[in-house]
Amino acid sequence: MTLHATQTHDSLGDALAAPDSCFAETVTEIEHYTDGLFRFRMTRPASFRFRSGEFVMIGLPGTAPVFRAYSIASPNWDDTLEFYSIKVPGGPLTERLQHIRPGDTIWMRRKPTGTLVIDALVPGRQLWMFATGTGIAPFASIIRDPESYEKFDRLILVQGCRHVAELAYARGLGASLGDDPLVGAFAAGRLQLITATTREDSAMTGRLTSCLADGRLETAADATLDPATDRAMICGSMAMLNDMREALQARGFVEGSNARPADFVIEKAFVG
Ligand code: A2P
Repeated sequence: MTLHATQTHDSLGDALAAPDSCFAETVTEIEHYTDGLFRFRMTRPASFRFRSGEFVMIGLPGTAPVFRAYSIASPNWDDTLEFYSIKVPGGPLTERLQHIRPGDTIWMRRKPTGTLVIDALVPGRQLWMFATGTGIAPFASIIRDPESYEKFDRLILVQGCRHVAELAYARGLGASLGDDPLVGAFAAGRLQLITATTREDSAMTGRLTSCLADGRLETAADATLDPATDRAMICGSMAMLNDMREALQARGFVEGSNARPADFVIEKAFVG
């Protein structure tokens, strides 16, 4: 179900003025995928700049607002900002955020940051992006940025989820990219989306770490994950980051950062 800005609704109290440290933006679109996942778009402040893959802190208006880190899922050329979120029952932000409607106000801190940026990687030929759950959000930005295709010959986006229904956002991205007038031509034949599930059978069943260890990921990508030519980004839970980091390091990949670009970078996905 997608709601657009033309629909009327009872606003979530947005009469409060935003603090100087924040932009106050308007929700334009919401789409719910499952009981636990949704995405939304909001207006973008004219002065707001970010690098595809970065995150910002967002919150809802209130006297004691709770802010959480959210990767920006839209690319840096986009007029609006997209976010992909889980709904945590009783979660300090998402319990309310999941009920937003077009026209509601969201506060966003002014400074974006993050390590999942192409600048934090040394040049390479193939970019692998490994995500579990909402960890796909920064990669949704990167695969829609033409610059990613200028820097890499091939982009391979791998998402692991518990259930097939949780792959809906990734599949929607793949489908919409083909028709995208700006990025579609870049992505054609150069972007591959590979999905895996752990608690329901699908084309690839198992954790990303297992699918990498037993060779299924490389077979599906028809590529070898090799530090001589490949670069990687990882976004997921702490346990997933640790295990994937170990797997990449075992193959000779060196972890990088904004200050010291190298072969791969990691960032924790938004959780609460
Ligand atoms: P699993 O179902 O085996 O726990 P979550 O919703 O808990 O963040 O998990 C999202 C996906 O990440 C699930 O498919 C889950 O698999 C998987 N996952 C959890 N921990 C790891 C890990 N250490 N390495 C790889 N994948 C993981």
